[in-house]
Amino acid sequence: MSIYYMDGEYIDSQQAVLSVNDMAVLRGYAIFDFLRTYNKRPFYLKEHISRFAHSGQCVGLDLPLNEDEICDIVVETLSRNDFDEANIRIMYTGGVSPDSLIPQGNGKFIVMVTERMKLPAWWYADGVKIITAEVERSIPEAKSTDYMNAIMTQKQARKAEAIEAVYVNKKGRVLEGTTTNIFLHLDGKWITPDKGILPGITRSVMIDLMEKKYGVELGEVSREDIARADEIFISATNKEIIPVIQVDDLKIADGKPGDQTKKMMQIFREYTTAYGQQLIPSGKKISV
Ligand SMILES: Cc1ncc(COP(=O)(O)O)c(C=O)c1O
Repeated sequence: MSIYYMDGEYIDSQQAVLSVNDMAVLRGYAIFDFLRTYNKRPFYLKEHISRFAHSGQCVGLDLPLNEDEICDIVVETLSRNDFDEANIRIMYTGGVSPDSLIPQGNGKFIVMVTERMKLPAWWYADGVKIITAEVERSIPEAKSTDYMNAIMTQKQARKAEAIEAVYVNKKGRVLEGTTTNIFLHLDGKWITPDKGILPGITRSVMIDLMEKKYGVELGEVSREDIARADEIFISATNKEIIPVIQVDDLKIADGKPGDQTKKMMQIFREYTTAYGQQLIPSGKKISV
């Protein structure tokens, strides 16, 4: 059983219900953020809350709480649950409005804590296939509940026995996955798209970790770059770092996770382990 926070109360998750008149339901108008714990410690909580507030600004949804208040509620909700590791979803809905178009400041602020489930071990050991899809999110910097394109392209991915679809815009520019960011190893260096993406927290952590020792460029990535890349990985809170060994019909290098990618997986694992052991302070500002 999970305890959620909703409307000033900590309640059984099954009692956390939303009006069908909420703009989240009628218009898909809501923002959210998603993070996880390492050794029960919420990973980059402050950064996730900052991004959440930024999503609100991007879509014109004024939050009823400031970032410190949100932080306190998340910590309290987490403490009322008892999972070894948890996922945390923070959400603010558009609320009920007479014309279902203009928010009235009565949205629902919700914090959901659920048990973390393990993802298939072979994704990390053997690498995965991804596909490309011509999609461009309209407000890429916002993490909103509008995942219509993501769900449709994920279905295409599953049909092609892939685990993710990466968006490429009309100009052939590679952007991000449905729920991931992408890094390519090209001409001896790492590059990740700089624009038209959600600034992933995992991406930012990786950029910080890579900058010091391995180098990473933030710039334009084209569809052709995928064909030239000798290694690719995707990053996300839920998935961490996953090696990509095939994009559409194209095998990347020898079709096995590359040494550079394995190194990136290792430095991320070491960092998150240290974070969970409180060896890294919270509130560290990262480059998003
Ligand atoms: C569109 C999109 N891009 C990137 C990401 C990865 O972001 P993060 O590393 O913060 O999970 C997500 C996460 O859900 C996403 O939805």
